[in-house]
This record gives sequence, C-alpha cells and structure tokens, in this order.
Amino acid sequence: MPPIRIDVQSAQHAYPVFVGAGLLASASEHLRDAGLTGDRVVVSVPPVWRHHASRVADLAGAAGPVLMADGERAKTLKTVARLYDDFSARHVTRSTAIVALGGGVAGDTAGFAAATYLRGLSLVHLPTTLLAQVDSAIGGKVGVNLPAGKNLAGAFHAPALVLIDPEVLATLPRREFRAGLYEVVKYAVIASPALFDRLAARPGLSARRPDALAEVIAECCRIKAAVVEQDERESGPRRTLNFGHTIGHALEAVTNFRRFRHGEAVACGMLAAARLSTARGVMPVEDEARLKDLIQRMGALPDVADLRAVDVLEAIGHDKKTVGGRLHFVLCAGIGRTDIVTDIAPAELSAAIASIGVRV
Ligand SMILES: NC(=O)c1ccc[n+]([C@@H]2O[C@H](COP(=O)([O-])OP(=O)(O)OC[C@H]3O[C@@H](n4cnc5c(N)ncnc54)[C@H](O)[C@@H]3O)[C@@H](O)[C@H]2O)c1
Ligand SMILES: [Zn+2]
Repeated sequence: MPPIRIDVQSAQHAYPVFVGAGLLASASEHLRDAGLTGDRVVVSVPPVWRHHASRVADLAGAAGPVLMADGERAKTLKTVARLYDDFSARHVTRSTAIVALGGGVAGDTAGFAAATYLRGLSLVHLPTTLLAQVDSAIGGKVGVNLPAGKNLAGAFHAPALVLIDPEVLATLPRREFRAGLYEVVKYAVIASPALFDRLAARPGLSARRPDALAEVIAECCRIKAAVVEQDERESGPRRTLNFGHTIGHALEAVTNFRRFRHGEAVACGMLAAARLSTARGVMPVEDEARLKDLIQRMGALPDVADLRAVDVLEAIGHDKKTVGGRLHFVLCAGIGRTDIVTDIAPAELSAAIASIGVRV
C-alpha cells in the first residue's frame, strides 16, 4: 500500500506528513524529495535505537546517531546544551537537517535544539510512540521542561517532513501503546464519530496491525492538522484538542507525574469532562455511556481513590490555561463535537472529579 499523505499548512511553511507501514525503509528518499539534500544528524534515545537502528542505518550514516538520555526527566535545557555540543562537534551547518527518531520526549527536545541552534535548522520527525505519531510530531510545538514546570521553554518550529511508520509500534510497551490510544479516543470524541465507531468495534486495535493502524493514525493527523491550521497558537479552535486535559493535567500534577502515563490521565479527564457535559445537558447520556464503555474495555486505569477533589481543583487553578483568571473548559457536545465554555463553577468540576472515584 502506498503511504497516506497529509499536507499541513503552518505560518512558517507547509509540510507533508506520510503515514505507511514500512515507510522508514525509504526515509532517505523522502528527505531528498522534501529538498533535504544536505547533511543530517539523527537524534534518538537508546531504547528506540536498539530496536530500530537497522530501519534508518543509511540515514544516520557512518557517524551514527546522537543518543540523548531517555525519559521525561531528560527533557531539559541540560540535554539541549549537550545536543548543541554534539551538533558543533559534527560541524552542523545551516543546511544540516536534524532528524528526531523517538517518542515525544526525543521529538520535543531534539526539536527545540533544532529550532534554536544557528537560529533554526530543518527538522524531520520520525515519531516512534503512538502518542508522538498522533500528537507531538504534528503542529510545530517543541520545547523542554524547566524546574518551574512542564514545557515552559519552547518554540513553534514546524518540521520540514514527518514520516510515520506504524511498524515501529510493535516494540512499544503495552502500557505506552494504550496511553497513546486514549489520545486517539480524544480525536474521535472531538471530531470523528466514524473513528469512534471504528475504535468501539476493536477497542485495543490489539493486534497492532500496521495497515489498520496507519489509517487510524492518519485520521488523527488529519484532525490535528485541520485544527492547528485554523489556530496555530492556541487562541481558539486549538483548545478543542485539550478535551480531557484540564482535569488530566491536574491528576498528573497531584501525583507528581509519577502515577499516570499522560494518556491515562487524559482518559480519566475525558470521563470527568463527559460527566460534566451530560450534567449540563450538552452531551447525550448515551454518548457518555459509549465513551465510558470504550475506555473501560481498553483496560484498567490507575487508581484515583486516594486522591482528594480539593487538591485536584487547586491544581486546575494552577494550570497555565487558566492564566487571566478564566478557565476555558472543553465540553463534549455529543461524539464528534465540542463546546468550549468559560463559566464552569468549582462545584461542577468537583462533582465531575468525584464521579471518576476521587474523594470529595
Ligand atoms: N509537542 C507537542 O505538541 C506535544 C504534544 C503531546 C505531548 N508532547 C510531549 O511528549 C512527551 C511524551 O511523549 P511519549 O509519550 O512519546 O513519551 P517518551 O518519548 O518518553 O516515550 C515513552 C517510552 O517509550 C520508549 N519508546 C519510544 N518508542 C519506542 C518503540 N517504538 N519501541 C519501544 N520503546 C519505545 C521511549 O524510549 C520511552 O522510554 C511529553 O514530554 C509531552 O510533553 C508534546
Ligand atoms: Zn495529550
């Protein structure tokens, strides 16, 4: 099957996203077709390189990849400074492309280094987690965490090219895969009843069949691209992508980012947001039931019974999306549709949070 192509318009430039099983084998040709004919530096993390080096050996060339430390804790300015050192040791010039091979951590960190070294180098994303394939590789946001909070140092740096190969997901730990699936559910809930039906029919996409995955991933990329094109800097429509994220981020924060994979927290956040939406009469109760059923069938979520609703509420108050005193909350107006409101009362939030099992 030929790869699926999605063209993304950004304020900086348009770029193609290709999705296809086995695509990484022809990565070099795709770079050339995208006009990236200069040198390149592949940046990856050890677990990904261990599994998938052979797929991109020609891209990395004799010099091999630059390997950065793995995990969210490595998404720092210190890692970026190390990458700058590696770039300079490899005589990177303005015509060198940085190729990020890995999950969202590698993409965001290498992407930030690419956005800032020599005032900006061409960036290619080769995302290897489901989350990175449906979310972080599209939209041009790059950045790292600061001690004061997540993603506080960053830039908008649109990639020149994104190549998504679902075959690499075969080696992804089960929990990481499922965490990515919850983001796929989010896209279905905010924009695509057809995608929702497809997931409901096969909630695990369990065999991880690359061809089936390619279609699902491409649909998510189309949705994200359409939203981001309308609103690159998140003043309006891009907020719909935050469905489930207000409460999800707060759950991550009150557990010190240790208990949940991000997607799992989003799944809990979507359940709470759906409850709030039905309580307001905005979402049909049958749709809330369908969402709950789908998420439950995907597997168990981390326990929340020991958490307190007041702490979660306080964390929501600290969320950067409330800056200016206004919480923009994304409601579901039925599978495939959203409604953003700014008049959510703490009592409503509290009831919604309690509905997923958090102590009142
Ligand atoms: N830029 C954006 O728009 C955006 C959007 C969403 C999330 N993010 C960021 O993405 C990050 C999370 O990304 P993530 O969930 O991909 O985590 P991650 O990059 O930490 O990857 C998770 C783990 O899986 C391993 N891994 C990756 N691919 C693998 C594969 N194919 N086989 C085996 N192991 C593999 C990684 O080495 C890592 O240990 C967060 O820092 C978040 O802030 C950014
Ligand atoms: Zn998310």
